[in-house]
Amino acid sequence: MNEIQTALAQWYETHKRELPWRSNPSPYYVWLSEVILQQTRVNQGLDYFIRFVERWPSLEDLSKASEEEVLKMWQGLGYYSRARNLHQCARQIVENHGGSFPADFESLRKLKGIGDYTAAAIASIAFDKPHAVVDGNVYRVLSRLYDIDTPINTKEGIRLFGQLAEQLLDTEHPGRHNQAMMELGALQCVPNNPDCLQCPLQSHCLALAHHTVEERPKKEKKLKIKTRYFHYLVIRTPENGIYLHKREGNDIWKNLYDFPCIESDHPMKSDEIIGSEYFGSLLSESGFVINRISLPHMHKLTHQTIIATFVEIKISVFLPTIKTNNILLAFENELGTFPVPKLIDNYLTNNNH
Ligand code: ADE
Ligand code: SF4
Repeated sequence: MNEIQTALAQWYETHKRELPWRSNPSPYYVWLSEVILQQTRVNQGLDYFIRFVERWPSLEDLSKASEEEVLKMWQGLGYYSRARNLHQCARQIVENHGGSFPADFESLRKLKGIGDYTAAAIASIAFDKPHAVVDGNVYRVLSRLYDIDTPINTKEGIRLFGQLAEQLLDTEHPGRHNQAMMELGALQCVPNNPDCLQCPLQSHCLALAHHTVEERPKKEKKLKIKTRYFHYLVIRTPENGIYLHKREGNDIWKNLYDFPCIESDHPMKSDEIIGSEYFGSLLSESGFVINRISLPHMHKLTHQTIIATFVEIKISVFLPTIKTNNILLAFENELGTFPVPKLIDNYLTNNNH
């Protein structure tokens, strides 16, 4: 082992957090934790992890769950295709690999939702195979340690940092090394004001020597973020039923539930909403009253911003045309069983009376 690898390993052994997937790095635990940790930090991710393994102690248990239940368990983490892939991956492994994860990178890489990052993490942490893991933490550590200004979110950057990670990998202890790199990025080499005087790598760190720590890692400016205006129709029946809409197709929140929605590239006033074709197709045959239109709620996703307003509508008879529109009637006591985006969950929590 070279000096950097040794210093890193020693630091890791004294500073690492005790986590269930570290005390028991089974392939199932490692996979599940890594998929969750792509969406959130360790603190919050741990709660999700514990709930998942309490509900589905083994991969086979998870493979028998319904997609809807998995989505529900994932609720709040965002990027719901990860949850659908998680579920499909569990089924693939049961069907094609007898219920056990394959141990080599190439076979792991072929599974649903498993990319280079997750395949390297499982291969190294669960099977001690020499593959380097590169996540956001590792990009930051490497860009500082070697003082590299190539943007990390470019083809060139991805290739270069992947090579550097492989070169630095401790091939005798790849699982420990990868986790140590990620842990160093999470606890020590943090994005802002890292305490470099405490760092086990300070004598090797080129960005520290060159006073460029705050400028690393470099990122190329992102594409413009699109804004979408969602005008949600929150339609309630006299019996306190509420109409939900199941989202389908190639868009955000696929297979989650929200409300019937009129989308536009601009904010719509009530006249325009009521005059729209969709509103007419749903409500023209029922007597309706608009009780309230909420203020806009902003919801930021990676590549788009959703501005949602909630149009609260009371009707006197059931809607006739709901089947064709992917809409169903739910009652108060069932609402908690539907997987919904955080935006909708917040609305229901704060406005459901
Ligand atoms: N972030 C994602 N995976 C991690 C891991 N295994 N250890 C520390 N931080 C992580
Ligand atoms: Fe990061 Fe500072 Fe350590 Fe360099 S010395 S690796 S910048 S914490």
